[in-house]
Order: sequence, then C-alpha cells, then structure tokens
Amino acid sequence: MPRVSAAFFALGVVCLFIGMLMGAEMGKSEDFTLMPVHAHLNLLGWVTMALYGIFYALTHASLKPKLAWINFWLAALGVALMIPSLALYLPARDTKFVPGILAGEAATILSLLVFAISVYRELVRPRLA
Ligand code: HEM
Repeated sequence: MPRVSAAFFALGVVCLFIGMLMGAEMGKSEDFTLMPVHAHLNLLGWVTMALYGIFYALTHASLKPKLAWINFWLAALGVALMIPSLALYLPARDTKFVPGILAGEAATILSLLVFAISVYRELVRPRLA
C-alpha cells in the first residue's frame, strides 16, 4: 500500500473514532443537534477517505504521488475546516461560522476534482486488456 493510502486511512480512523463517540453520546443524551456533524464525520471523514485510500492502493502501479498527496491535503483541510465550523454553527445557527463551513466545502470539492483527474487518468491509460 502506498503511503498516501495509509495517510487517508490514518485520517479516516480518527474521524470514525470521533464520529462513533459522538453517535454514542447523541444516543445517550437524546440530543441530536449535532447529528449532521456525526454524519459528515463518518461519511466524509471515514467513508470518503477510505475510498480515496483504496483507489490509490488499487492503482499503485500507475500512481502519480504528487496528485494523490494534493488530493489528501485538500481533503484533510476540508474536514478540518468544515467539521468544527458546522459543530459551532448548529447549536445557535450562528452565521459567523458560515465562512468556515464554506471554506471547508470549497477545499472538499477541490479535493474531489483532483481525485477525478487520477480517476480519468486511470480510465484512459494504455493497458493490455
Ligand atoms: C458507534 C457507532 C455509531 C453510533 C453510536 C451512531 C449513532 C447515531 C445516532 C444516535 C443517530 C441519530 C439517529 C436519529 O435520528 O434518531 C445517528 C445518525 C446518523 N448516523 Fe450514526 N452512529 C454510529 C456510526 C455511524 C457510521 C459509521 C456512519 C456512516 C458511515 C453513520 C452515519 C449516520 C448518518 C448518515 C446519520 C443521520 C441519519 C438521518 O439523517 O436520519 N453513523 N447515528
């Protein structure tokens, strides 16, 4: 497995751990205010990172490490900005945290666009079968 895949998994497990603790706490307290944070930590922070990591592991032979690392750092920045901003925004819908959410969204979408380059490079690369 290339290091960038391991980095995606390393980030993903931290998100999943925090997401699971949040889920457990939500269930215990029956306070679901932060449910979107829990959902995004688990789906964006864990599932999406794991899928990126799996893709780069499967395409190890044709990997462009620089592109994959740009994907990683943009994805990490997106989660690091979006999740805390969303958690601070939700309880009182305090709009001063909206720019943080938007910046996180922008980094997250950019990371996907960088990933898409790797995906389409893989689609068109010459191969035997
Ligand atoms: C220890 C593990 C987990 C616990 C204790 C937990 C707990 C919860 C709870 C209490 C809710 C609120 C449900 C309600 O509306 O009554 C919830 C919602 C949700 N969880 Fe988790 N969860 C866990 C793991 C995960 C994982 C691994 C994912 C995704 C990969 C996930 C995705 C979601 C989503 C998308 C929602 C929102 C569902 C909706 O909008 O109706 N959860 N979770």
